Amino acid sequence: MPTRMTRREFAAAAGAAMVAQSALAQTGAPITRAIPASGELLPAVGLGTANVFNIDDEATRQKATAVLRALVAGGGRLVDTSSVYGDAESVLGDVMASAAPGDKLFIATKCETPDADEVKRSLSRLKVEKLDLLQLHNVREPQQSLAQFKDWKAQGLCRYIGITSTYHGSFPAVEAVLAREQPDFVQIDYSLDDREAEQRILPAAAEVKSAVLTALPFGRGRLFRAVHGRELPDWARAFAGSWAQFFLKYLLGDPRVTAVIPGTADSAHMTDNLGAMHGPLPDPEQRQRMVAFIGSL
Ligand SMILES: NC(=O)c1ccc[n+]([C@@H]2O[C@H](COP(=O)([O-])OP(=O)(O)OC[C@H]3O[C@@H](n4cnc5c(N)ncnc54)[C@H](OP(=O)(O)O)[C@@H]3O)[C@@H](O)[C@H]2O)c1
Repeated sequence: MPTRMTRREFAAAAGAAMVAQSALAQTGAPITRAIPASGELLPAVGLGTANVFNIDDEATRQKATAVLRALVAGGGRLVDTSSVYGDAESVLGDVMASAAPGDKLFIATKCETPDADEVKRSLSRLKVEKLDLLQLHNVREPQQSLAQFKDWKAQGLCRYIGITSTYHGSFPAVEAVLAREQPDFVQIDYSLDDREAEQRILPAAAEVKSAVLTALPFGRGRLFRAVHGRELPDWARAFAGSWAQFFLKYLLGDPRVTAVIPGTADSAHMTDNLGAMHGPLPDPEQRQRMVAFIGSL
């Protein structure tokens, strides 16, 4: 006959379950995805630097050092920045030169136009001779050309080229540039509660074998506000140890996604986010349940 647990037994069992969950989240090789253009494997969780490292002061450099160290310690490599994220490139450059192992990182930046001076400034601020990924920021027009980016890649200035947008009104332009220019990467706004990219950009990227980075994976923190005060549902604990992992694993559950780039200035959040590279990913049925759940809030 089943007996009720005492409060102490319940607490012990809950603690053991939490330890097991955390082990589930951290064991095994981290999830990597191949960049279609080369087959190079990229750890599937990276770091976004908009709004977090944009002021070049001591406090920011300390936070950036801790976050980059957490990224590398947790098996991550990808750091996404831009020439227009305030001082973020300079902060990253200083931290990579002094405190965090820059050679272990995969540095992606963006320029606004195919302007050689802008790219030279990014290289100088990042203190690198070569970029891993150079992206044309915020594609708006279907006829925008990547000819100059292709020249730069041929000259060895960057290893990969890409395009980005988080403006849904620009999705037709992104589709047109993707189809014509066939960049190595496309970076697009995609999160559990904003899934337009699933129907439009992800198929277009797959068609031309572009790697996909998902910008705004938490909707600039909107998803955390939506679940504020709520426990992770029991059915999600099989694959997620935190809300951050729940949101990121929804995206990684789509094999067309190469990497997610959540922004954070907090090293504990970085470690939490990197946990999404471990343990099982939600299957299609679980992903549908995640969509229904977020839609019900
Ligand atoms: N057009 C473009 O190309 C474009 C546009 C926008 C963004 N992006 C890229 O996408 C990246 C991500 O976007 P984003 O940073 O604006 O938004 P986001 O990643 O959707 O959300 C960032 C927010 O989530 C919080 N957060 C992160 N990890 C957390 C965790 N484990 N637990 C709780 N809160 C957590 C952060 O606060 P804490 O600092 O406190 O962790 C921050 O407030 C950008 O950094 C940028 O690299 C590209």
